Amino acid sequence: MGNLKVKKAIIPAAGFGTRFLPATKAIPKEMLPIIDIPTIQYIVEECIDSGIEEILIIDNDSKQEIRRHFSIDERLEKKLYETNKIHELKLVHDIATRIKISYVQQNNPRGLGHAVSLGEEWANNEPVVVLCGDDIMVNKNGLPVTKQLIDAYERTNSSILGVQEILRENVHKYGVITPIIMDGRLIQISDVVEKPKTEDAPSNYATLGRYVLSPKIFEYLKTQTPGAGGEIQLTDSIRRLMKEEKVYAYNFEGVRYDAGDKFGYVSAVIDFALERDDLREKVLEHLKKKLNCK
Ligand code: G1P
Repeated sequence: MGNLKVKKAIIPAAGFGTRFLPATKAIPKEMLPIIDIPTIQYIVEECIDSGIEEILIIDNDSKQEIRRHFSIDERLEKKLYETNKIHELKLVHDIATRIKISYVQQNNPRGLGHAVSLGEEWANNEPVVVLCGDDIMVNKNGLPVTKQLIDAYERTNSSILGVQEILRENVHKYGVITPIIMDGRLIQISDVVEKPKTEDAPSNYATLGRYVLSPKIFEYLKTQTPGAGGEIQLTDSIRRLMKEEKVYAYNFEGVRYDAGDKFGYVSAVIDFALERDDLREKVLEHLKKKLNCK
């Protein structure tokens, strides 16, 4: 299967963010912050913490803010230096220098599979992690989710789909696996289907925006016809890949927030605030007051 070491990650970020309009009319949804950190920065940090060395962001021509966020801003850095705001200076400088990020534009979004296919040349026949920007993962005392999946990839020499069990009523929103054998967190699977009807779903285990894929995936993406919702689905190409190579699922450890959903977003803001020394007490006090008012 070629080069086994996983060093590259693709972050698709070209969607319109329709679930968050009007906020996302002029601001990319990936730049909406959980308190003071844009959601895409959490995804980039998960990559860095998982040993990824290079990232490709699939953006579009109205998402310049993402590129600006990950570039050096000399004027801002000079100002912070001159005003002795060294902590803030480090924050903004680090974002621009910690990892090499490249960009490819997808100006006419045609689905997750299409976005990932644009990374073929960049991937250069190496395995890639795919991280969906809406899914923010927290595994407080353990390995980052991407690292767990990379370890499983390197152990099995096979593509890995990050999954967790979800409520049956939500399966229609996700890729859903057909599990055969569970070996701890590693799951042998026989199929994966995109957005099945509740009554047709083969299990309650959904793919949740983290994949480690063998470079063969690009061959299938090239010829992938539209599937669910008329979009070129990554799931459909993974399904075809499974006929040629082994693909596993991995029931990852950690909490996932769907930051693309309003309730998921609010939950993330509250939980992240409660984890911060500068906010925990005040937020708890506020929540207690609210609860007592009911
Ligand atoms: C995409 C994938 C789906 C996956 C989901 C995870 O769907 O197509 O298989 O389960 O991300 O968040 P989307 O949320 O873009 O509709």
